[in-house]
Amino acid sequence: MAFSVTPPAKPLLDVLSGARRVPPPVWMMRQAGRYLPEYRAVREKAGGFLDLCFTPELAAEVTLQPIRRFGFDAAIIFSDILVVPHALGRAVRFEAGEGPRLDPLDTAEQIAALPTRADAATFAPVYEALRLTRAALDPAVTLLGFCGAPWTVATYMVAGHGTPDQAPARMFAYREPQAFAALIDRLTETSIDYLAAQLQAGADAVQIFDTWAGVLPPREFARWCAAPVRRIVEGVRAKVPGAKIIGFPRGVGALLGDFVERTGVDAVSIDWAAEPAFVRERVQTRVAVQGNLDPLALIAGGDALDRAVDDVLENFGTGRLIFNLGHGIQPQTPIAHVERMLRRVRG
Ligand code: CP3
Repeated sequence: MAFSVTPPAKPLLDVLSGARRVPPPVWMMRQAGRYLPEYRAVREKAGGFLDLCFTPELAAEVTLQPIRRFGFDAAIIFSDILVVPHALGRAVRFEAGEGPRLDPLDTAEQIAALPTRADAATFAPVYEALRLTRAALDPAVTLLGFCGAPWTVATYMVAGHGTPDQAPARMFAYREPQAFAALIDRLTETSIDYLAAQLQAGADAVQIFDTWAGVLPPREFARWCAAPVRRIVEGVRAKVPGAKIIGFPRGVGALLGDFVERTGVDAVSIDWAAEPAFVRERVQTRVAVQGNLDPLALIAGGDALDRAVDDVLENFGTGRLIFNLGHGIQPQTPIAHVERMLRRVRG
């Protein structure tokens, strides 16, 4: 006898689709990482950081670790935003304690010489890791794919490393706007294909990380952040109709409303400095809000953590909320504090 079984609801996907959930679904940016002993063990076994990203079994394993330990509502595929420049032929290295290193890309000639298409073989292990993760994951857990926004990825490509305010890319964009636009275009096209393929490989939704959106004046923000993200949202939905997309334009403050209107994302991840009344009125009326516990409150623990958790719930719990941090969890965070946060969020 043939009968169909309704798949169990995914609380996080429900919120992206328009529902309010109490308690809110919860996960943490960088939830697989060095604060977990089981991550450090696999990381050591893998050798280099990119070896970990590009070995599907290991990437799937570290993606699942925080779900097993904490029961989060979302798993985010373990990878990095810099796999995109890697697939465009730029050497990417991760040196211990120093963050990423690339060969700087700071002339119009170098940008013109970038390949038109990313190397498909580079991304294949990421898709395989998504398939393995999906197969092992509780169906109620939302699986997230991701990429960096073109602006943020470009800041690392131009400078060759992270800087306090990404001045090298800002300067290059002023001095060589046409060359910089060509770089942003290349990243935009690559990101559309990459995110659509992640959704086809089993991701339920994707997040676009624009960690450095907040260093730009409004005019530059509209051109280099909002417009390319809009193109990605439209391009991905043309390939995968109804694709659910979360944006994270970190640090943009009052431009958040503008970002939501211009890009068409389903949710925005907000940093801890976002002003609650503004976000409720201008942002949460249109899209779901994800965030925004200060990662330092999670390190501090105790009453400071409890108060910070309650603030997030009070500020945004009346609308569509995905509980998260305002940025990634830091390596020195005690595991007991994550457990305390979860008990408080889930009541
Ligand atoms: O959220 C997750 O758990 C998924 C995995 C993930 C990583 N990087 C793994 C990682 C995600 C979503 C990212 C995104 C990313 N990578 C961003 C955007 C989000 C943000 O945090 O701002 C950026 C700017 C990068 C670039 C990058 N990768 C930097 C600056 C660094 C060094 C910082 C650090 O913590 O060392 C990385 C390395 C990196 N990416 C690590 C992890 C777990 C640490 C490397 C290690 O384990 O040795």
